[in-house]
Amino acid sequence: MSDGICTRKSKKMNILEIKTEVKVYDNAAELGKDDQSLLIKAKEALQTAYAPYSKFHVGAALLLDDGTVVKGSNQENASFPLGLCAERVALANQAANFPNQKVKAIAVSVENAIADSIASPCGMCRQALLESEVKQNSAIKILLKGPSAEVYEIDSIKQLLPLAFSSKNL
Ligand code: THU
Repeated sequence: MSDGICTRKSKKMNILEIKTEVKVYDNAAELGKDDQSLLIKAKEALQTAYAPYSKFHVGAALLLDDGTVVKGSNQENASFPLGLCAERVALANQAANFPNQKVKAIAVSVENAIADSIASPCGMCRQALLESEVKQNSAIKILLKGPSAEVYEIDSIKQLLPLAFSSKNL
């Protein structure tokens, strides 16, 4: 098995079984110091969210190899499809300003007035995170926090985007 995919034989065909592993912590205090502080930075990033339409504020924080933290927040537009998610704002910031630093981890916080649970990255952000992983040739840890104390940890976007399309297909 690699990337959570294993093959099982059926009578007529092979079946790919895809397994996703999410580590669930009851409380951020159970995490290491770097992860705890990255989640705090993601929560801080919520303050710069521009979300007058959805009112759903999202904050993201990236931890780079040299310890730099890059923040992002969702930026909406009256022309709705133009809106950008917090994750992609943070990733574009890193790519433009710290292109030689690898991203070790991303924390995403939706500790906003209307969230009732952890939100995991949308499909577009999963694809963007995969591009960053492939480009830097190393996994990006994902930490997700909602309004409750619980934290989800995922080792790599490959867990959330199995059978993905990437530059390796081109
Ligand atoms: N949003 C993010 O920023 N990240 C996510 O992972 C999910 C959704 C934003 C997009 C939009 O501004 C608002 O949340 C509601 O969809």
